Amino acid sequence: MLGYAGKVRSLTTVVHEYLSNSLDAAEEASVLPDIEIRVKELAENRYGVYVRDNGPGIPSKHVGKALASVLTGTKFHRYMQQRGQQGIGAGGCTIFALITTGKPVHVRSSTGKEAYECDLSIDIKGNRPLVNNLQRIAPDFRGLAIEGEFGDVKYEKSEHGVYEYVWRTALSNPHASIRLTEPDGNEAVFPRSVDTMPRRPKQILPHPLGISASDLLDFAHASESRKVTSFLVDSFSRVTHDKVRELAGMAKDVDFEKEPRQLTWEDATKIVNAFGQVKWIGPDLDSLSSIGEQQVEIAMKNILAPSFVSVVERKPRVFKGGIPFVVEVGIAYGGSAGRQNGGGASGSILRFANKVPLLFDSGSCAISEAVNGIDWKRYSIRKFDEEPVSVLVNVSSVYIPYSGVGKQAIAQEDEIVEEIKLAVMDAARKLQKFLSGERHRDAQESAYSTIARYVSQLSSDLHEITGKDSKAIEKELRALVGKKYSALLSREDKEGGGAAEVQNAS
Ligand SMILES: Nc1ncnc2c1ncn2[C@@H]1O[C@H](COP(=O)(O)OP(=O)(O)OP(=O)(O)O)[C@@H](O)[C@H]1O
Ligand SMILES: [Mg+2]
Repeated sequence: MLGYAGKVRSLTTVVHEYLSNSLDAAEEASVLPDIEIRVKELAENRYGVYVRDNGPGIPSKHVGKALASVLTGTKFHRYMQQRGQQGIGAGGCTIFALITTGKPVHVRSSTGKEAYECDLSIDIKGNRPLVNNLQRIAPDFRGLAIEGEFGDVKYEKSEHGVYEYVWRTALSNPHASIRLTEPDGNEAVFPRSVDTMPRRPKQILPHPLGISASDLLDFAHASESRKVTSFLVDSFSRVTHDKVRELAGMAKDVDFEKEPRQLTWEDATKIVNAFGQVKWIGPDLDSLSSIGEQQVEIAMKNILAPSFVSVVERKPRVFKGGIPFVVEVGIAYGGSAGRQNGGGASGSILRFANKVPLLFDSGSCAISEAVNGIDWKRYSIRKFDEEPVSVLVNVSSVYIPYSGVGKQAIAQEDEIVEEIKLAVMDAARKLQKFLSGERHRDAQESAYSTIARYVSQLSSDLHEITGKDSKAIEKELRALVGKKYSALLSREDKEGGGAAEVQNAS
């Protein structure tokens, strides 16, 4: 359920969990992330993973709960666009280490107030963290370093592997500097390409149209409000006392005066049904944080060195009637864009949800569906699979509707697929302009040089027949060819070397 299926995928999942946590932590503390990742092969199917960041660290009294138990994250119930949500990522890694190697994970952290190291494992039956060998260390760093040994995993430089995950993360997080040491000792460095922090998303209250009966119960049972009425007003955006009266009129047999803790599943279902019938003001859109048009462009240029990039960020929209989301797309062409394969390149789709790369389950994803549904020929891409093109799509939302528990594909909600298509088509139109200009120029250039190759030969032949000065004939012939390909000629004149080159060719 947590993504530990298959050797390559499991290792990528571990790196994903630690790296996302480091990025979230740095963002929360407003520091530009510096992250170091080391993957070491210890034996067949057994690897060590080390991830160190420069974030705020974790106080020793919370470290067990945070990293060695599940469902205890600090981002739970916050309704804010972040990578982590449920509080199962890091604890999941600790469990995975424990059940595949029997070894605890090792943590070093320095918060500015204290610096310590310890071993963490977990009493799986009781979901209780076990913190051992806790000791103070020199506070000569800031942040968190976590190291674990994992079995039943494999490092592979494939499109599902750690390297792919890390470079894609660098692409969608241009404010981060990431260094990866691979098991063969190779060091991949992805330097920071922008020095500004991403805009901090605002924490919002959930909109009533975005939640299910089970969400409502979760919220109700954690609520400190005295009555269902005030719970609804306090916990959700756009819910006023007037709206609650309307809801009460629809869900007649629900007691809105009782404590929220006493809400039953039936009550919650009725309230959610009523939510669907009331007219609501749309949700607050400040909750979204995208990568940013400029940032996508800089990152794609830095990492892929393409001959052309076009980026489009659309306006936020809503799906399921109330959940805001925003789509941004970058298309890179040429250079190292596309998936490189022995001399050529094929089109590649780079999928992201809240800036986190999605490497698995592409078949069921809204992004693949939308990109593959585009008639690329209309945009001068004859065969998507045979051109050096990378299409980056990032969907941001406080609630990404994943199509599975592994969180590797976005469900094919109509509004989301439609919006991705529109964004990709927008970006593709700009690419098409570039490509048709480029291809037109290529065709002209080749026609011109073919004809020009004969000019000096023809001039001297005509000189022999007519007795006229060959230089004068050549000049006139060149002018004639040049008139036809005037744009090109003026460019060559400026560059200077054109005529000489043509003569040598003749
Ligand atoms: N590198 C880190 N620096 C500081 N705090 C961290 C770091 N990693 C984890 N934490 C804290 O530990 C908590 C638990 O992390 P965990 O990955 O289990 O859950 P999450 O990130 O909240 O959600 P998800 O399950 O979706 O990953 C986080 O909410 C955060 O408060
Ligand atoms: Mg996490």
